[in-house]
Order: sequence, then C-alpha cells, then structure tokens
Amino acid sequence: MSSKIQNKKMWGGRFDSNMAQSMVDLSFSLHFDAELIEEDIQGSIAHCKGLVESKILSPSELNTIQNALKAILKDYQSGVSLWNSSDEDIHMAVERVLTERIGDLGKKIHTGRSRNDQVATDFKLYMRNRSYEILKALNALKSTLLDLAKNHRSKLMPGYTHVQQAQPIYFSHYLLAFFFVLDRDTHRFFNFLDLHHELPLGSGAMAGSAFPYQRDLVAKELGFKAPSHNSIDAISHRDMALEFSSSIAIVGSTLSRYAEDFVNWSTTEFGFLTLHDAFSSGSSMMPQKKNPDSMELIRGKAGRLLGNYTSLFTAVKGAPLSYSRDLQEDKEPVFDSVKTILVLLNVMNEALSSATWNFETMHQKMLPALLATDLADLLVESGLPFRDAHHIVGHLVGEAAKQRVEFTELPDSVWEEAGIQNAKAIKNTLSFEFSVEKRNIQGGTGSKSIEQQIKKAESILEIEARRV
Ligand code: ARG
Repeated sequence: MSSKIQNKKMWGGRFDSNMAQSMVDLSFSLHFDAELIEEDIQGSIAHCKGLVESKILSPSELNTIQNALKAILKDYQSGVSLWNSSDEDIHMAVERVLTERIGDLGKKIHTGRSRNDQVATDFKLYMRNRSYEILKALNALKSTLLDLAKNHRSKLMPGYTHVQQAQPIYFSHYLLAFFFVLDRDTHRFFNFLDLHHELPLGSGAMAGSAFPYQRDLVAKELGFKAPSHNSIDAISHRDMALEFSSSIAIVGSTLSRYAEDFVNWSTTEFGFLTLHDAFSSGSSMMPQKKNPDSMELIRGKAGRLLGNYTSLFTAVKGAPLSYSRDLQEDKEPVFDSVKTILVLLNVMNEALSSATWNFETMHQKMLPALLATDLADLLVESGLPFRDAHHIVGHLVGEAAKQRVEFTELPDSVWEEAGIQNAKAIKNTLSFEFSVEKRNIQGGTGSKSIEQQIKKAESILEIEARRV
C-alpha cells in the first residue's frame, strides 16, 4: 500500500496512511462531478455571503473569495488545467485551488458546511438550471409541431391502431397528439421546479450548521424559494433526482414512440416521410441505402434514459439515513440523461422541420376499409342498433376480403342483401372527408376540432414562453 499513496487529504487529519490506489479508483468522482463546477461556485459564494453575517468572514474577505472563485470558473471554462490527482471531487478541487490562490482565507469557506449539504445544493441547482434548458428544447419542438400542423391542417392520412389502418384522420391531428403529450412532459419539469425549491445549505453534515445565518437570503441568492425545513431531509433524500430523471425518461419514451412511427413512415412500404439527408445515414455496404438513423437512435436512447433512472433508483433505495457514500452514485445517470435528452429533443425538432411529408402517398395509401366505422354509424343513424350495424358491415368487409375487392366495391345488391336499404345513396355519401368532418366533437379529428386544438396549443405556448 505504501508505494501507491496519495497526498494527504483535506479530511486527512485523523488518518495515518493514505488511500490505496484501488480505493482512489473507487472513490474519486472529479472526472464526472466537474460538471457541477458552476453550481458549486455559485453555492460557495452564496454560503460565504452567509458567513459574513455569522462574522466568520469580513466583507472584504468575502470580496477576495468571490473574485477568486469567479476567476477559477473563468479559467476552467477557458481550458486552464486546474486539477491534480489528489482532487477527490469538484468540491475539494475548487477549495484546494482557491486556497492555493488566496492562502489561508480559502480554508475558511467550508465553515458550517459539509460536502453533504454542499453537494445536495449543487446537484439540486444543477437540475433546476437544466430543467430550464430542457423546457426550452421541449417548447422548440412543440412550436415546430404546431407550425407543421397549421401549415398542413387539411391533409388526410390513414390513422392506425395495431399498425393496421383504422380511421381517416387529418395529419395535423396526429401532430397535435404529439404536441399535447409533450406538453404534459413539459409540466413534469414545471412540477419539479415547484416542488424542489428548498435550499439544503445550512444543513451541515446532517444536524444543521452551528454558524447561523439567514438561510432565506442565501436561498434567494441561489434562486431557491426557501430554506429546507429539516437538515436530515435536506441532505439525505434524492427524490428530486428520481423525479427529474424519471421525467426525462418519460420524455424519452414519448419521443421513442413517434420515432418508431417515423422509421416506419420512411420505408418504401409506407412512403409518408422522407427525412432530410442530414438526419439519415448510408450503409457501408449497400450503396442504395438511406437509413432513418436519427429516428432509430432516438428510439434506442429511450432505453438508456430508463436505464439511468433505474440505476439511480436502485442505488438510492434502502440507503440508510442520512448520508452514505452510495449517494455519490446519484450524479452520473442524471448527467447522462440531461445530455442525452437535450440532443434527442434537438434532433427530433430539426429532423421534423427539415423533413418532406409525402401527402400524396399518404392519401393514395388510404384504404376504403377506413370507412367501415362510418358505414356502421350511418346505419345507426337510420335506426339500427350499433351492434347489428357493426355485424352487417363486418359481414360486408369479410365478403369483400374473400372476393379480394374493397367493401365499397361490392355490388349494391350484396349490400342490400346484407340489410342496407339505400346502398347507392350511402356509397355516395361515404368519403374520407365525410368521415373526418363527422368528428368535430371536441378532441376529434374534424377540422373545427383541429382549429380548437390549434388555438389551445397557441395559448399554451404563449403562457409557457413567459415561464421558460
Ligand atoms: N463526492 C461526494 C458526493 O458526491 C461528496 C460527499 C462526500 N461526503 C462525505 N461525507 N464523504 O456525494
């Protein structure tokens, strides 16, 4: 153990020997938690403002510390190499560099603070800040979907259940479905921001700091609404990260379902969609291939986001109160989820706004069988109970399948034998346009409903723009 030793740690007072290299490999987190540097420095400055009130620091000492911390951040961002192999995590690394730069004064900043409340504060701040980035990306995608819906409001396409043609819909109706689910995804981040608004700093290691300061001022300084009510709660719990990463995983799952549809729509068999070359890729062997890789990756990454959530959940469950080192495992999955979802949202947005939608193909692929429900509905309007109407139309569709024709192509006599009185008139009435316009019930695919949906979506974006 003696040959592979590390320098004395900041916490090393009671230790006779240094850490084994294998333990260093297990324990050190700087390579990933450097992601928190901005929040760590913001947090330290706010804490030091509190320490002025506790008379641990003078205003001029605060000034020196603040300037030095800001300089460290600036140096880090411009690529200056700051860290060395003894730096365990970002929190200790910043404190070491600070102390090297301003001397003993740097050693005062950790007064009344533990890495436990420091890390809980930094991490919560990080998630709050990134929530706004995710919200912006969600709203950008929603606004692309709304524009597409507005520009193509009356284009028809087959609607699907079980990947079988089900009923005629407007293309805009499909896009607005995507808009509204993304809006609930959006609200999960608003809920997160509303719920996780308490400042952990001042909680110390677990029992609260012995150097009182007005925590509400420190909270305000960092954009939190209030100080936490209980120091054990504040440093122990990671429900904030569970909620945040599950909200991201849900967005991933939403995107994956649309990505799956768009992969299908890009096939020759569907032909509804041509992705721009910029969001496709070729095959290393088959020269003719243009693959919808953007959508396949969006679909695939949903698994990774769920994996991140699951690994976090597994690390946290059963961890004893208050802090145990298990909790250091909370960060990597969250960082990865944030980076991933921002890329996914941007790619989905750009891929959809640059795509070519092949409306003619959508229309050509619409099968008359899409109107089977409408025929049953017409029979109901003429007085038949729905179950009988369903049976009659089912019989016609079955008969048509046997004869390898569309049910609308069966002779009027066959319809009449099946129990439909005025076959000719009904055939003339049935059309895709007729079908969609029968569905102007609120939320339906009819054009009046689409207009209501568009208005609703516009007002949602307007209201949300004020918060994002
Ligand atoms: N890097 C650690 C983490 O992320 C810091 C907290 C260490 N605290 C402790 N009591 N050893 O959780």
